[in-house]
Amino acid sequence: MPDGSTNLATVSWWIYLSYHPNMTAYAMAKTSYSGELVRGNKKVVLTIPGTAIVEAVMGCGSTTGRDTGKGAQLRPAK
Ligand SMILES: Cc1cc2nc3c(=O)[nH]c(=O)nc-3n(C[C@H](O)[C@H](O)[C@H](O)COP(=O)(O)O)c2cc1C
Repeated sequence: MPDGSTNLATVSWWIYLSYHPNMTAYAMAKTSYSGELVRGNKKVVLTIPGTAIVEAVMGCGSTTGRDTGKGAQLRPAK
């Protein structure tokens, strides 16, 4: 993101393509903030979350990073 932090978005549409060269594809809506960021900086990390953080995962999939710092959803509650 412009401030150096990382945006988070939930993605269910992904597919393994190839071992060599190593390729994985995913689909992200053109209107998403994540798509805009990735088109700009060409960097993305895909992770597979565990069920322990399901609420945060669903939250990241129903809010946009345009107006929410979603990283806070993954910080442990105090
Ligand atoms: C379970 C789940 C799966 C999702 N899978 C996708 C997906 O495969 N592709 C996509 O474009 N959006 C998907 N979404 C919606 C995005 O995560 C959602 O539009 C999000 O708000 C985008 O955030 P952003 O605007 O910060 O990029 C999914 C949402 C949920 C809850």
